[in-house]
Amino acid sequence: MWDYTEKVKEHFTNPKNVGMIENPSAIGEAGSLVCGDMLKLYLKVDENGIITDAKFQTFGCGSAVASSSILTEMVIGKHIDEAKNITNKQIADALGGLPPEKMHCSVMGHEALENAIANY
Ligand code: FES
Repeated sequence: MWDYTEKVKEHFTNPKNVGMIENPSAIGEAGSLVCGDMLKLYLKVDENGIITDAKFQTFGCGSAVASSSILTEMVIGKHIDEAKNITNKQIADALGGLPPEKMHCSVMGHEALENAIANY
């Protein structure tokens, strides 16, 4: 059994911002080559470039759910240029860390964010 932080467990058992956004400003998709899991991230961006809403859907493991959940919390309220600088390490750190074998789950979150911003 992996050693998960309380924060990971909290975001896995009670994930925030699950679902989709009608008429999103951008959609980002990513798949993990490591495990075959997938993530779709929806962003709503206002006319000033501020991310006002973010939601996700994933066929992913618990760490992917937790990473995606905390990622949506991290990007909401940020300018798109600021969100661009979020790294997968910051996502994992915000969860209090992930087991090394599960870092790729946060990478998938980061890649979905990069893809969404590129599509914006
Ligand atoms: Fe696939 Fe975590 S094991 S994203």
